[in-house]
Amino acid sequence: MKALSVALISALAAALLFACSHRNDSPAAGTAAAVTATRIIDADNDPGQWLSHGRTYDEQRFSPLRQINTNNVEELGLAWSFDLQTRRGIEATSIVVDGVMYTTSAWSIVHALDARTGQPMWTFDPQVAKEKAKHTCCDVVNRGVAVWKGQVFFGALDGRLFALDAQTGAVNWEVATVDPTLPYTITGAPRVVKDKVLIGNGGAEFGVRGFISAYNVQDGSMAWRFYTVPGNPDLGFENAAMEMAARTWNGRWWEIGGGGGTVWDSMAYDPELDLLYFGVGNGTPWNREIRSPGGGDNLFLSSIVAVRPDTGEYVWHYQTTPGESWDYTATQHIILADIELDGEPRKVLMQAPKNGFFYVIDRTNGELLSAENYIELNWATHVDIATGRPVEVPEARYTNDSFLVFPSYLGGHNWHSMSYSPDTGLVYIPVLDFPANYGQPENFRYNPGAGNTGVHGIIGSLPDAQAERDAMRAIVKGRLLAWDPVQQKEAWRVEHKGPWNGGALSTAGNLLFQGTADGNLVAYSADKGETLWSFPTQTGVVAAPITYEIDGEQYVSINVGWGGAFALVFGEFVQSDSLPNVSRVLTFKLGAGQQLPPVDWKPRVVFNPPALEASAEVIHEGYATYQDVCMGCHGLNAVSGLIIPDLRGSAYLWDADSWNDVVLDGALKDRGMASFADNISPEQSAAIRAYVIQQAHRGKALLDQSAR
Ligand code: HEC
Repeated sequence: MKALSVALISALAAALLFACSHRNDSPAAGTAAAVTATRIIDADNDPGQWLSHGRTYDEQRFSPLRQINTNNVEELGLAWSFDLQTRRGIEATSIVVDGVMYTTSAWSIVHALDARTGQPMWTFDPQVAKEKAKHTCCDVVNRGVAVWKGQVFFGALDGRLFALDAQTGAVNWEVATVDPTLPYTITGAPRVVKDKVLIGNGGAEFGVRGFISAYNVQDGSMAWRFYTVPGNPDLGFENAAMEMAARTWNGRWWEIGGGGGTVWDSMAYDPELDLLYFGVGNGTPWNREIRSPGGGDNLFLSSIVAVRPDTGEYVWHYQTTPGESWDYTATQHIILADIELDGEPRKVLMQAPKNGFFYVIDRTNGELLSAENYIELNWATHVDIATGRPVEVPEARYTNDSFLVFPSYLGGHNWHSMSYSPDTGLVYIPVLDFPANYGQPENFRYNPGAGNTGVHGIIGSLPDAQAERDAMRAIVKGRLLAWDPVQQKEAWRVEHKGPWNGGALSTAGNLLFQGTADGNLVAYSADKGETLWSFPTQTGVVAAPITYEIDGEQYVSINVGWGGAFALVFGEFVQSDSLPNVSRVLTFKLGAGQQLPPVDWKPRVVFNPPALEASAEVIHEGYATYQDVCMGCHGLNAVSGLIIPDLRGSAYLWDADSWNDVVLDGALKDRGMASFADNISPEQSAAIRAYVIQQAHRGKALLDQSAR
């Protein structure tokens, strides 16, 4: 009782302290997180804030702040850091309102910090059951919160949407946005428009039907839901848009995984047109031949959709990849801008979806204005502007033979935020540049629910011979690309060491900030791409930076911590000198000089496998099952990115029973390794173990060779 009251009193004192310090900073005295529509719409009049995911509703991720600029960026130093206390991927963009930062880490944990000092104010952990990780394609990440009229909103990995009291972190309401028995997840940041919280979800790799929903900020009641793909036509359609969409589907897609089309990341809002835009994901399964035999565009997969934010009523759509078959989502960052095209001012929407084309679309009506490829690609020759459709290369559909497709299922650009600078007129794109092999042998059986995407696992894996693997590694590239959306061509580029780098931020100081896979936060000149400053982050960076101002001082802040899809899957391609995951918020200002504590640990694989006894047949079966079910976390060909254990170094290889305790009975489920008993048989578990033992011997031999 005594302990409780002491805790209560100190909580009250903290709340009071906060209220007082707050009063000095803001006209909205006493109210934390006093974000309103007017404040977001007029954000340029109060540029010290970062009020919404992309700073403004047009999601440009450009800041008018210019105290830090090309002349003095060299003096930028670390002001404070905050340890996010996880070792999984960090993807969040922080929100900063009136001196308070709201951010998230892996496992959907929310932190409120003093944005000037990094001092924690409160933390909220939604206690997601760790075995939910099984339904994540791409790490247990979270991309941030939305803040509105005293509340902080975020989606938890397990599909719950929370409204927290911004002052205390206490739960005001929570609501399940998905059927918790289905493999839905939330990793994206909500947005708030007209007192409604907008949230989508992920899960298309595991078989779900996509949608976006709007919840009333006051009580969490649902205002509307817009499905992105039709359900079973026999049950009737939710609206005319679904009826239209159903005409573009064949077969019984609702029975084999729900169609997909999840809205897992991008949204933007135009208050003048009163249109909400969102990006729709890939199909379930990937291969259209299985999903919709005989073809069809499969609306609204891979589309940008515009709806009314009050009602969710459909207004227009543009489909980037009709009948998508390659995991070519259109969930990538959507930017709204007013630019001049052929001497005419145009209201445009811009996107660089996974499929490799950069689109400029009239956002009033969805008309395609231009599309050019921002990377070398080979699945289509070009986009026909008259029809708005890509002109495909027939082999790319891998119906008979496998095909090495540029770009891969991770896209030419993934979720990593772009930035548009109205000063330079350039869009900055974190580009991924590498192919993936897609194929569908005759005896292929689609296995929904197991993360089996409809592409044969072995065909999509790394070549076995080391020389071929090295050759492949040489074509895995990534860069920061400055793109001129008017000319539809490259302005400049900076090649990076690997493809999986951070999001971008441009500022009126002619600066462009981006973090890199090899552990640096770098400042470039926004017009020319000259490197002006960098800071070693001690870990790979995938999130995007923000900037804000308090008491006349400008700050640049970024969440660092290696992880996400590429980091888990392409272990082999992470630089051999790869850095550990050290998850932190790092915040910089001019003249500061804090040091990070040294990181003196590094994950590595110690090979000590038991003798290999299984037959070649069993090993091959294990290989195929591994690629389908385990690869997404433990890495292609059993080579991990060392965020999740590399199974080749596992002591569990020594004992078949304890291996099965983990793999089939879920002994480590509370640590993110769920039971796979529903997905694989005991024979398959044994075969996977045999395959991993073989790969461990291979890894050991290679290591011995290179040591010689
Ligand atoms: C969704 C991600 C995910 C998938 C998919 C996955 N694992 Fe895991 N696995 C983990 C995580 C996380 C751990 C580490 C748990 C811990 O911290 O102890 C782990 C640990 C293990 C371990 C123990 C390793 C050690 O030495 O500590 C084994 C064995 C294992 N996994 C086997 C498998 C097999 C076999 C498959 C495929 C059937 C698989 N896993 C699929 C996430 C995954």
